[in-house]
Amino acid sequence: MPGSNSNYIFRIAQSLSRTLYSVIDNMSLVKCGVFFGLGAILSYGFGFSCQITTLLIIATYLATGGWKFIWVVINTLPRDAKALKVLIKLKLATKNHIQNNITVPMIFTKTAKKHPSKPCLVSEEGTLTFEEVENLSNQIANYFYQAGYRKGDVVALCFTENRIQYVCYWLGLAKIGVVAALINYNQRDVALSHSINAADSKAIIFTPDLSDALADVASQIQNKVVFYCTGNMSPNQVLSPVMLQSELARSPTYPPPAVKVGYTEKLFYVFTSGTTGLPKAAIISHSRFYYMTVGATSLANMTEKDVVYDTLPLYHTAGGVVGVGSMIVLGCTLVVRKKFSASRFWEDCIQYNCTAAQYIGEICRYLLATPAKPTDNQHKVKVMFGNGLKPEIWKMFQDRFGVKQMGEFYGATEGNCNTMNPDNTIGAVGFTTMIAPFLYPITLIRFNKDTGEYLRDRNGICIKSKPGEPGELVGKIVKGDALREFDGYVNRQATDKKVCPDVFKKGDLAFLTGDVLIMDKFGYFYFQDRTGDTFRWRGENVSTYEVESIISHHIQLKDSVVYGVEVKGLEGKAGMATIVDEHKNLDLLSLTKALQKSLPPYARPVFIRLASEVDTTGTHKLKKVDLAKEGFNPNIIKDNLYYMNSKTQQYEPLTVQVYNDICSGKIRL
Ligand SMILES: *[C@@H]1O[C@H](CO)[C@@H](O)[C@H](O)[C@H]1NC(C)=O
Ligand SMILES: *[C@@H]1O[C@H](CO)[C@@H](O)[C@H](O)[C@H]1NC(C)=O
Ligand SMILES: *[C@@H]1O[C@H](CO)[C@@H](O)[C@H](O)[C@H]1NC(C)=O
Ligand SMILES: *[C@@H]1O[C@H](CO)[C@@H](O)[C@H](O)[C@H]1NC(C)=O
Ligand SMILES: *[C@@H]1O[C@H](CO)[C@@H](O)[C@H](O)[C@H]1NC(C)=O
Repeated sequence: MPGSNSNYIFRIAQSLSRTLYSVIDNMSLVKCGVFFGLGAILSYGFGFSCQITTLLIIATYLATGGWKFIWVVINTLPRDAKALKVLIKLKLATKNHIQNNITVPMIFTKTAKKHPSKPCLVSEEGTLTFEEVENLSNQIANYFYQAGYRKGDVVALCFTENRIQYVCYWLGLAKIGVVAALINYNQRDVALSHSINAADSKAIIFTPDLSDALADVASQIQNKVVFYCTGNMSPNQVLSPVMLQSELARSPTYPPPAVKVGYTEKLFYVFTSGTTGLPKAAIISHSRFYYMTVGATSLANMTEKDVVYDTLPLYHTAGGVVGVGSMIVLGCTLVVRKKFSASRFWEDCIQYNCTAAQYIGEICRYLLATPAKPTDNQHKVKVMFGNGLKPEIWKMFQDRFGVKQMGEFYGATEGNCNTMNPDNTIGAVGFTTMIAPFLYPITLIRFNKDTGEYLRDRNGICIKSKPGEPGELVGKIVKGDALREFDGYVNRQATDKKVCPDVFKKGDLAFLTGDVLIMDKFGYFYFQDRTGDTFRWRGENVSTYEVESIISHHIQLKDSVVYGVEVKGLEGKAGMATIVDEHKNLDLLSLTKALQKSLPPYARPVFIRLASEVDTTGTHKLKKVDLAKEGFNPNIIKDNLYYMNSKTQQYEPLTVQVYNDICSGKIRL
């Protein structure tokens, strides 16, 4: 790119001068003045040479607290230099991709040409090579182009479990500018039809096993959708789908008609399940797909030689963007599995020679709960990336399974605050540079936990949290900068709620993650809480995350969630914990002791529900919203329920009689 080089030299010079400025800013102007005065006196008054004066000034700077900043610089420079390299690489690539309209399907085509016969997607179903994936997605593109689908149209993909063909579908559709809506197959009823409608889908491609679920909601779908079935199914009057298999077999494998698609335009939609309300459709643009992938894989030292094991759902960001991206952008072989299996995890990694794997916190916990086996250490996985690994089990996990690096990353599907732990700092979900914060403007800001309002200084600008002080993570939005853009949701109102003005300076906008983090003195971020995940009880704030960590620490590797439930006639919400107790061996007495020891009275759960099994969403997370709705009513809940008897300070069975007494106020909680 001739011409752009001088541009970059200029930018680097600009960055350097700003770094200098931030050093001065760190020292405060008064100190600077003192130093200059000192310098003047030393060199004119005492005739000291220039070098000695400089040395003396530096010594004074260090002695008066400057060493702290230097100490931070020394400790974080290698990390920041690595990240800066990635950032520059991303900025250059972005510029090139925007100028030449290079999209994700084009990147894949290029990768596929490099090694056409290399295994691309592998699973227990079989293997597809890069050329086969290219050809199949061309067939899909050609078929849907001929069927009349054009740029901007949306087609919903409803697949049960992870299939190797899955990626070919959205990739094929993207080749002709059609946007796939990646539907979570666990959804039923309202949630399912809501997702399909929210994306404004014109057609639905589904696996045969979902025909009943779709038939149930067919009448609630607003558009007149066309159904396409990917396999053989028994005739269904409601759907009467097009059978895709035979259609695709006839479709040509050569590239589809060229459709101009911009780099920052939509690639597909991913649904994010917030803690409240129905799922929201978040836009994944080509640029977002690219930088999330390159950011994460570069910091995790991955190359095209890596074989990546991905058992996460392919319709979510973690598995579907970063994992799949390593295959598309880097050219890694991607091994998928229909569904995560704790007992098969390391066996699979050994069988397929995997060198990298994806996780979410729950997966790590489930793996730790399996009995120790020789295969624990016989695999070649050297790096795992994902999110939600709890600090308590981080080291235990690495020690047992011998994984060198855990690449924990923080990346809201829709946000612009992606960050990652690049050096296995235990517990950290990412970092920001302390040396030159403006290079990657994400920060923590102070807020009032009760009202959710952001605290502002005299000029109305948000106040940054100091190291060690909790704050909400926010990221500056820069229009026209693909790396700093917030693509938002399909729904505009939902988009506006996530944006806040005047954060870094007057007139700017920042994306609000809703997550509360703490930063240490080196700029590493640690997860603390989710702003939505608190409830009030006896006039106090209870953080569900905090209570959960106490419980999960005590009950080891069982699943648990904490939430607030409404009690008739009482303000706020009473804490309730649902614990999965399949083997009915939970020691309630010792749990009670642990809670009493570690939590203030108001934060201790009032109700406990011991579930024998629990409906988890595709992410293995217990569904808080649904549990909270069911409340603590023994008339509708089959699981064993307990309540805290405030007189005996013990958990006692919650019978229908007790329930009625609580509701009528006879029993006081
Ligand atoms: C892929 O398609 C091309 C033509 O478009 C063909 O030459 C090639 O043999 C196909 N490859 C495979 C593996 O089917
Ligand atoms: C890139 O795509 C955009 C949007 O589709 C189009 O307006 C523009 O002309 C394209 N640019 C090039 C260089 O092809
Ligand atoms: C990543 O690569 C760099 C340079 O190649 C190396 O110094 C570093 O140790 C690697 N990190 C890991 C975790 O392998
Ligand atoms: C894994 O590696 C071994 C030894 O390098 C090789 O024999 C085997 O074929 C590989 N397996 C796969 C699935 O690539
Ligand atoms: C709730 O949390 C906020 C923020 O930490 C705090 O200012 C407030 O006092 C808390 N409320 C109570 C009643 O503790």
